Parts: sequence; structure tokens; C-alpha cells
Amino acid sequence: MDLATTPDAGPHALPPSCDFTVFGGTGDLALRKLLPALYHRDLEGQLPDDYRILGVSRSDLDDEGWRAEVRAALATHLDPTDLYDGAVERFVGRLHHLMLDAEDPEDWDRFHALLKDRPHPEEAVRVFYLAVSPTLFGAISQRLEEIGVVDERARVVIEKPIGHDLASARAVNESVGRVFAESQIFRIDHYLGKESVQNLLVTRFANTFLEPLWNSQWVDHVQITVAETVGVGGRGEYYDHAGALRDMVQNHLLQLLCLVAMEPPTYVGRETVRDEKLKVLQALKPMTPADVDRDTVRGRYGAGLVDGAAVPSYADDLGQTGSTTETFVALRTEVQNWRWAGVPFYLRTGKRMDRRASEIVVVFKAPPHPMFPHAEGVTTANRLHIQVQPDEGMRLHLTAKEPGPGGIRLRPVSLDLSYATAFEQRLPDAYERLLMDVIKGNATLFMRRDEVEAAWAWTEPILQRWAASPERPKRYAAGTDGPTSATLLLERDGRSWQEPDQ
Ligand code: BG6
Repeated sequence: MDLATTPDAGPHALPPSCDFTVFGGTGDLALRKLLPALYHRDLEGQLPDDYRILGVSRSDLDDEGWRAEVRAALATHLDPTDLYDGAVERFVGRLHHLMLDAEDPEDWDRFHALLKDRPHPEEAVRVFYLAVSPTLFGAISQRLEEIGVVDERARVVIEKPIGHDLASARAVNESVGRVFAESQIFRIDHYLGKESVQNLLVTRFANTFLEPLWNSQWVDHVQITVAETVGVGGRGEYYDHAGALRDMVQNHLLQLLCLVAMEPPTYVGRETVRDEKLKVLQALKPMTPADVDRDTVRGRYGAGLVDGAAVPSYADDLGQTGSTTETFVALRTEVQNWRWAGVPFYLRTGKRMDRRASEIVVVFKAPPHPMFPHAEGVTTANRLHIQVQPDEGMRLHLTAKEPGPGGIRLRPVSLDLSYATAFEQRLPDAYERLLMDVIKGNATLFMRRDEVEAAWAWTEPILQRWAASPERPKRYAAGTDGPTSATLLLERDGRSWQEPDQ
């Protein structure tokens, strides 16, 4: 079961010696996510003594300069109760910085020398994390090969966006694939590292009670929502070229859909899980232009109130008008296979919405026959509500008899599993899990090339139709649940979006 570990080591085994290089070591991703995640692993004794973290960037910093930046970042991004002076100093002692101009061969020689400058360099696993623009993925990979630091135990990690459409995704995959074998390429989708997302696999496949119901006979439809209250912040330039469909749906939401819809693999392993997810992506109903017009909604936030504070419109966040980029998407699709035939999957994501929540709701069919014709109250269909974040957990909504004599009154109740109360422990950030998996060489929770390309192949007709259409994204006020058309998308089918308190 290599979901939990590499086949030859227990889940708590120390990873091998490693030189973990972050290209883009002074960037936002490194400082906000990667280094805090590695600090936590170090704090829990998961990094061997000779583990080094090498930051490569264009900043003119020596080791001490970078260490100071990282100390400040840890103080900003971690809970103060997790910061211990001794642990922070031990961690920053692992850090080394190299200023590198990608065009300068001498800088690459210095990088080579840095990798060699340790006892038994040939024994260390080399991880190259490319936290830089995707346009550099191919060129950096090639340089690494030229300076001779890519051996068979080396691994490269790349983040989305992997391309902006199918052709460009293929080009990125080709360029990195010329240097690294597919088994050495780790494409991160951080949603797969979230505890509650991994638990979805466990809930489905380590229990039996759901499996007989998990199909078109008993499931009415599935809803997947990833709502954010944040706007585009300082990422306007990237975001305006991406939009919500590329930024969230093509990767995070489709990955969640895959985990809900996939068949049980023979065991939970690197290729078996990814094979099953690929089959789901390939079974998604292709979107014709008419389907796009009917089954997708795109929106863009205007000014509004979020958590009681006035926030500007997308155009103001961006500093320009005239953009046609969407910050909200809702769509309806189907998985065209035996298990899911005819079951709608509704996906929705947006920025500047009324709440921050990522959730999956599986809505079961209503009882086929009204057994309690004279009962008061409402019978609602059963729902399994999987809360990915925040307040990770699961709720099964049932109908119960309200206690008391004199007839039967029906009332909706829920069985609640809250991670916080059931486990009483800190939930690690997704990157903690994923970075350790990279070092251990376990790619189960990473996207394989064919998955990424299948996801683009499905997404592309939507992008094309939107680009060709004179329609613009519908406006929604910040702090709401999106444009009215997204509500109508479900109402048309006699359904509604499940809000948390329903
Ligand atoms: C990223 C997107 O992949 O995921 C961001 O680029 C988005 O736009 C983020 O805000 C959401 O991640 P999380 O873990 O905060 O839900």
C-alpha cells in the first residue's frame, strides 16, 4: 500500500539523505508553503541530520541572508506555538542559498559544486523543486542534465499551471520528459495532499457500507464546491491569463471528482490509483458548444462586502477594465460509465464568495415510496457531506423521528465526524505530506502526465467556446454565492446547491 509509504519502508521511516533544491527559493510559494512544511517535518524528527535545503534564485543573498528571510517567513506563516528557537535554528542551519542566472554557465558550475560539497554526494536523493514560471521548466531540466546532476534517483517537482491548454501542457511535459523519466516527475496538485481528500479514498475503500450505494441507482447527483473569500490579491497578472476554469477546475475540482467517481483499484498504489482516475477523466461527457452554452456559467466579482469589509471589484483588483477573465465557474457534467450513467456532477468554484469552504456533497435519491404519509415535517434525501476545509470532517444527513408521543414528526438530523474532535491533533498542511512523498519516491498523490493531458482535453472545448462567444462573465457581488445563473443551473434540473446549514 504505497499511499502510506514506499513499499520497502514503514510510514514513519526516515526518508533518505536528500539535497532538496528549490528553484525560486525566495518566492512566495517557497516562503509561504514549502519551507514551513519542511520545518514542520524537521520539528517532528522526519529529516535526517545530513538533509540540506538549497535555495536557488536571482536574489543577491548569501546563506545568512536567506536564513534571515526564512526565519521571518516561518514567524509569519506558522502558529507561534510551533516555533521553538532551537528547532528553528537547527532548520535554518540546513539552508544554503545560491544566486543563479540561468543563462550563466559559471553559475550552473557553482550549483554543481554545491551539490557535490557534502559527504557521499552520490548517496543523497536530489529533489529539484521548480517553484518558478512554467516557461522555465524545460530549460532548467535541460541545464540540470547538462551539468550531470540528474541520476536515476533524482526527482523533479512541478506545480500547475502545467500549460494553459492541451498543446502547451504537452509541450511542458515533453520538455521535462526529455530529461526525467515519468517516474521521476512529480506534478503537484496540493488538493491531493489534504487530509480530508486522502480520507475520501479511505472512507470509500476501507469501509463497505457505502460501496453498494455509490452508483446511479442510489445517488441522485454530486456537488463539488470550492469557494474562497479571497480575491486575486497580488496574483492578478497570472490570474488574468488563467481564470477560474484553468486555475481551479482543470486540476483541483477534477481531481476531487476523480476520487469520488473512480472505481476501487486492486490496491492503493502509485499506478493503480492513477489508472482509475484517468478512466474517470476519459469518461467525462465531452462538451459540445451547445453543452457549454447550456451547462456552464462563468462569473466575475464586482465590489461588495466580504466578512463585513468592503472589497473592490475584480477590475479594481486588477487595475484595468476590459478583462474577460472569469473568477467564478459553475458547470454540470456527467461521468459516462456503467456506475454513473445519467448522474449529474455539479462543480462550482469562485473567488470573493460569501464563505471559504471546499466540500463534496453526495446527494442520494429520495425514498421511493412515502411510508409516513401522515407524518409531519419534511423528508429530505440523505446526503453525505464531505468537508474538505475548513473544519475537516464528514456529515451524513438522515431523517429521524422527533421524540415525543402523538404521531410521527420527521426531522432532519446529522451524524457528524469532526476531525478536530475525533483525532485531537494538528492536521498537517498538504505540502508536508506531499514533500515527504517526493523524497520517498511515492507518486500516488501526484498527477501523471496522461491525467493532466486528459483533464486539459476535457477542459479545452469550454475554453474555446467561451473565447468564441460574445457573452461575458456574469457579474456577482463580492460576498455572495455567485451569479444567479449558477443557481438556475441546478434549479432547471429540480435541484439546488446544498449550503452548509441545510
Ligand atoms: C491554487 C490556486 O492552486 O489553489 C489559487 O492557484 C487558490 O487561486 C488556491 O486560491 C486554493 O488553495 P487552498 O488550499 O487555499 O484551497
